[in-house]
Amino acid sequence: MAVRSRITGVGGFVPSRVVTNHDLAAMMDTSDEWIVERTGIQQRHWAGPDDSPSGFALEAANAALTAANVAKEDIDLLLVATLSPDHFFPGTACFLQAKMGISEIPALDIRQQCTGFIYGTSIADQFIRTGMYEKVLVIGSEIHSKGLDKTDAGRDVTVLFGDGAGAIVMEATDVESTDDSQVFSTHLHADGSGADALWLSSPGMAHPDGLVTHAHLDRGDQYPKMNGRAVYVNAVKRMSEGIHDALAANEVTIDDVDLFFFHQANLRINEAVAQRLQIPAGKVYNTIQKFGNTTAATIPLGMKEAVEDGTLQPGMLVACAAFGSGFTWGSMLIRW
Ligand code: COA
Repeated sequence: MAVRSRITGVGGFVPSRVVTNHDLAAMMDTSDEWIVERTGIQQRHWAGPDDSPSGFALEAANAALTAANVAKEDIDLLLVATLSPDHFFPGTACFLQAKMGISEIPALDIRQQCTGFIYGTSIADQFIRTGMYEKVLVIGSEIHSKGLDKTDAGRDVTVLFGDGAGAIVMEATDVESTDDSQVFSTHLHADGSGADALWLSSPGMAHPDGLVTHAHLDRGDQYPKMNGRAVYVNAVKRMSEGIHDALAANEVTIDDVDLFFFHQANLRINEAVAQRLQIPAGKVYNTIQKFGNTTAATIPLGMKEAVEDGTLQPGMLVACAAFGSGFTWGSMLIRW
């Protein structure tokens, strides 16, 4: 017998406002045809003015707790992955903790963008394996829509992103065999030499002239900037490598895996990864068509959808891989 972690509940949340490609075409010089052909995205959800990432996190966390049948008072650690925090500081996990009404447990923000959920799951897994904590909430929550450039200048980035949150409850479990539900492995990577290929420059303390200035705002430095080609090429390469890591570490093959969750940045990226690894299309669970790229929320939101529609069943061997700004990437293999 060994102590491992397992996912015991999953939850998700998206705001009710649906923004179609046609809606975006009314705001900027783009088209449904361009967006669908290049990215696969048909629509995304956008937050309302009073919404916050910690508020979305609360919705997803409550749903995951209910699914796991765990009381919030029994959670030992709160991890929130987000690139769109409520505020510059303190971390969104602290705002969430106050909203949940569970003080004193540690509340930690993870800043690994689209790979944030994999990093969070890995951190939770290490704490559970060492026996330090027994129940951990891992949440990815994002509101992109309030921070996107909705003019023609921002169209390459703005059409890609959507708002939402996803959460899992992870709990300690005694496992006897690989058939038992568990997290087998996580692999984490980063290459900071690609940091400015997808980034948001301001506000930032590295600026000689201050956190955020009129000059920054005039230049649009408060909006994300992306080298789309570099991100695309690296995403295909690194998510493929991540799946290799996961399979090799556990001595299993593509055929042994029942379902793949890839980060949802672009349908073409995921199709290229599937082609490269010779994964049958039916084994890849894609949600980008209706949610766009929800960054750290993507994988748990996808898991929640897959549970609800019956695709994700107990006992399945599941591989996940993500790639994002940083560059960061990672993977994990789990028995659901
Ligand atoms: N609508 C219409 N045209 C657009 C557009 C939009 N939303 N965004 C860019 N274009 C234009 C460009 O200006 C360019 O025009 P030009 O040829 O006249 O200069 C043309 O479309 C092609 O642009 P390009 O950037 O070469 O397109 P692409 O085929 O590389 O596709 C992405 C662009 C963004 C879809 C693609 O690079 C991509 O998906 N990259 C990865 C992005 C990503 O995953 N980000 C998140 C990472 S977690």
